[in-house]
Amino acid sequence: MNNIERRLTVPDIQAKKGGEPIVCLTAYTAPTAEVLDRYVDLLLVGDSVAMVLYGMETTLGISLETMIGHGKAVVRASNTALVAVDMPFGSYQGSKEEAFRNAARIMSETGCQAIKLEGGVEMEDTVHFLSERGVPVFGHVGLRPQSLHTAGGFRSHGKDHREADQILRDAEAIAQAGAFAIVIEGTVEPVAARVTENTPVPIIGIGASPRCDGQVLVTEDLVGMFNTFRPKFVKRYAELNGEMAKAVEKFSRDVRQRRFPDAEHCFGAEPRKVSG
Ligand code: KIV
Repeated sequence: MNNIERRLTVPDIQAKKGGEPIVCLTAYTAPTAEVLDRYVDLLLVGDSVAMVLYGMETTLGISLETMIGHGKAVVRASNTALVAVDMPFGSYQGSKEEAFRNAARIMSETGCQAIKLEGGVEMEDTVHFLSERGVPVFGHVGLRPQSLHTAGGFRSHGKDHREADQILRDAEAIAQAGAFAIVIEGTVEPVAARVTENTPVPIIGIGASPRCDGQVLVTEDLVGMFNTFRPKFVKRYAELNGEMAKAVEKFSRDVRQRRFPDAEHCFGAEPRKVSG
């Protein structure tokens, strides 16, 4: 539980480098944000919403408008966690000016405190351009779901020297350019640990290393509400899908047997006579 009374800021997150691990979870909706807010430092409105809530096969199909809608809900329902919203595929890669226009829309329309974008060395100029203009940038290196087609699918990264060095260069480039924190995804443990040691900003791991400065997971994965596939790095802390199925089964039985609604759930109804 975090014991703060106000919303965490970008400098608060930066100051956590090397300290108590930073807790980050995804949230796409108000009810989820409300539950998570007091337990996490960072709420990420991830473009994983495409797969988790909309049943898409990749994150590529989600629009800026949809991300903004989810961002608004999460900001409204939270008080203390810093909220970062993912920039969707195609909204920032074209030019740094386009990236700024879309980042500014996300920030002004949702009220979030930061945006997240994927990429390393090739995004250096964009990260610098945004950071210099008041847009806090949360970076994302290693496995980058928006580049899954060029990377050859969802697979772990950093296994060979060439890829390991590239990830180190990517993290260094965007940290130098002004990213206030960086997600490292699906990266072999020793490389994620090296990135954490060598980069001056907090490194938040997902499928990476316990030596990162913090951890992030997709909330629906950890509570057992997303079953399409289960990456190796997901730890299930609950099985809410099973609980939901049980509740819905009971409801459907009650409706079919006319046991719901009962007097307690009706307006002006006579108490039901219990026979026998
Ligand atoms: O979109 C997302 O949820 C993410 C996290 C998995 C880091 O980028």
